[in-house]
Amino acid sequence: MNWKIMLVAFAGIGVALPAAAEEREFRLGLITPPVHVWNQEVAALNETLQEVSDGRFSIVAFPSGQLGNEATMLQQLQTGALDMAWLTTAEITTRVPDMAALHAPFLVDNIADAATVLRSEPAREILDVLPRATGTVGVCYAMTGMRQLMTRQPVSVASDLGGMRFRITPAPAIRSFFEMFDAAPAPMPLTQVYDALANGQIDAIDMDFESIINFRYHEHAPNMMVTNHHMFGMVALVSARVWADISEEDRTLISSAIQLHCDRTIDRFVDEEEGKLDRLRADSGISITDNVGPEFFGDIVERWDSTWAEQTPYVARLRDLVAEF
Ligand code: BEZ
Repeated sequence: MNWKIMLVAFAGIGVALPAAAEEREFRLGLITPPVHVWNQEVAALNETLQEVSDGRFSIVAFPSGQLGNEATMLQQLQTGALDMAWLTTAEITTRVPDMAALHAPFLVDNIADAATVLRSEPAREILDVLPRATGTVGVCYAMTGMRQLMTRQPVSVASDLGGMRFRITPAPAIRSFFEMFDAAPAPMPLTQVYDALANGQIDAIDMDFESIINFRYHEHAPNMMVTNHHMFGMVALVSARVWADISEEDRTLISSAIQLHCDRTIDRFVDEEEGKLDRLRADSGISITDNVGPEFFGDIVERWDSTWAEQTPYVARLRDLVAEF
């Protein structure tokens, strides 16, 4: 082999081996817009990861469903076309019924208890089935707060909700809840909600304070009932195919960085939830009914539990856990 051929061969090896094994820009998808706390924490995660890896690892985020809706992103993670995503627990319930327990209505009374549940052992156990069920590794949970009801028309009794076309995040456990008070659930991705409200396709939504503020849904659904009817979790996911190519040592480094920003996300939601409600109170375009508890919905908790306890033992486990708080 003459020296020119040898140089090309070595250069080829040099590019293909160390660079591919040690340096990586991870592509991370989210359905939420750049202003959302998740996106802010993903940006911070990028900085953390670059710092702890001496610049070997970084993250490029694809916000606002640029890569498709959550179901599409989950498929991309499974094939390895996408490296990472921060997806709602609601999306994961479609493949992992145990995760539906995290959406049990009125499981917790407040956001601090939601944080405790998300950091609990039973919740962590649910992540263990993700590699087999979804082809992803669930590194940690975070959340986007508690969910409230927003309607175009004022509501005074539960029967007023009957027949309303309620946008929901696509998930059977959430659909059940709305069907149980005779609403007409309309599953659709977050990215379509504002327009669907604006053009009258839907009458009402199930949403968290963070998203209500970000998207100003009250411009078209000005009545908000503070129900806190379920917590809305997030799972930080890595493609199992991508994970398999990463050394044990780097996996520890990456998962610790992700865990740090899951924790910061949870802490921020706990700390900021009350202030977000105050901001909405200060908005003259919204009419707020406080403290709408489970009793407003009759025996819905018992009915939901009896349906979903058949699908997963985690409904009872999480209710038992919360009873100890
Ligand atoms: C939703 O589908 O309602 C949603 C998804 C992610 C963050 C916030 C809300």
